[in-house]
Amino acid sequence: VAAASKKTTPETFRSLYKRPTSIPYPKDNEYSKHKEHLGKVLFFDPRLSASNWISCATCHNPGLSWGDGLPRGIGHGMGVLGRRTQTLLNLAWGDLYFWDGRAESLEIQALGPIESPGEMALPHDKLIKKLTEISEYQELFKKAFPGSKEITLENIGKSIATFERTIVSGIAPFDEWVSGKTNAISESAKRGFVLFNEKAKCATCHSGWRFTDDAFHDIGIADDDEGRGKLIPDIPVLRHAFKTPTLRNVNSRSPYMHGGSLSTLVEVVELYNRGGDVKRDSLAEQLVPLGLSAQEKADLVSFLNSLTSVDKPITIPVLPK
Ligand code: HEC
Ligand code: HEC
Repeated sequence: VAAASKKTTPETFRSLYKRPTSIPYPKDNEYSKHKEHLGKVLFFDPRLSASNWISCATCHNPGLSWGDGLPRGIGHGMGVLGRRTQTLLNLAWGDLYFWDGRAESLEIQALGPIESPGEMALPHDKLIKKLTEISEYQELFKKAFPGSKEITLENIGKSIATFERTIVSGIAPFDEWVSGKTNAISESAKRGFVLFNEKAKCATCHSGWRFTDDAFHDIGIADDDEGRGKLIPDIPVLRHAFKTPTLRNVNSRSPYMHGGSLSTLVEVVELYNRGGDVKRDSLAEQLVPLGLSAQEKADLVSFLNSLTSVDKPITIPVLPK
């Protein structure tokens, strides 16, 4: 059998990582330029918070790969949240949202943080009243939702979700290599890519061009957060399980993991190499000591570094009066 097996090369896995050519939008919230624009304005507007001081972009800062660079988010009244702020890259292709998957769509998710006491702390009735009193918002809503006379929660959610779907990671050296440019990534990154798919088992969860299976796993991080298990207590493997994060542009988003417990990609690779830190029943079966050499660990990190794109600057919109 061994003699008949094909030799693995980096090219063996390349076809599994091709990027899509267009962004998917749901039937009940199709794309329009006006919706995207309104969503972007709302995203950057701190008046969506009780303090008039916190916008979505305060925590999801485009300059920090749509995160905040902190171990845990900081919200209303400078209170520290329970988990790390997630990136908003490539969510158009997502399935369930939040670390524990508690939101089923971007439209629903967008309304959560506005009202949440720890985040923006603005009750929804006050939000509608506030936006309605800003006359230029009325114009923007009319353009984005022709025929709808009032500003509604549903349309706030739809426009923010439309803007979020346009947030896509750019072409990284890895993509150039996937499309045939042989020297776009280093030999070390190519070896790392093979390890990622084989010996280190990373691709069993970080699969496809976004590097996520959109599923929930316990990778053995030592803390008390039960993750998805808190929502669905009767499925034992979901205890301490969190959504597999995308690895696109990952070196721009330290610290890592749901609680920001690891500072560098080297530390992340070490965690996997020792098979996680807590051996509990829910631990994913892939989390076993990997026996990676120093060179192999360095190759994995080189590969992860090849996933970062150089993106065009984001323009911040002028806010309505
Ligand atoms: C105070 C900081 C803060 C603010 C403000 C904030 N977020 Fe978040 N965001 C977070 C944190 C923290 C998480 C992860 C929470 C969790 O999983 O429990 C998150 C998660 C998300 C996710 C899920 C991403 C995924 O991969 O599942 C989306 C989408 C999102 N936020 C969009 C928004 C939008 C839209 C706004 C504005 C209406 C907003 N956020 C305001 C901190 C913030
Ligand atoms: C069993 C599924 C699984 C396997 C196998 C796996 N991961 Fe993960 N990975 C996850 C999950 C789930 C998280 C988030 C865990 C958390 O925060 O509690 C994660 C987090 C990460 C992060 C941090 C990203 C961030 O934004 O916080 C990196 C980097 C990473 N993994 C790389 C790898 C590498 C490299 C390998 C192979 C050595 C690997 N993963 C193997 C599921 C997996």
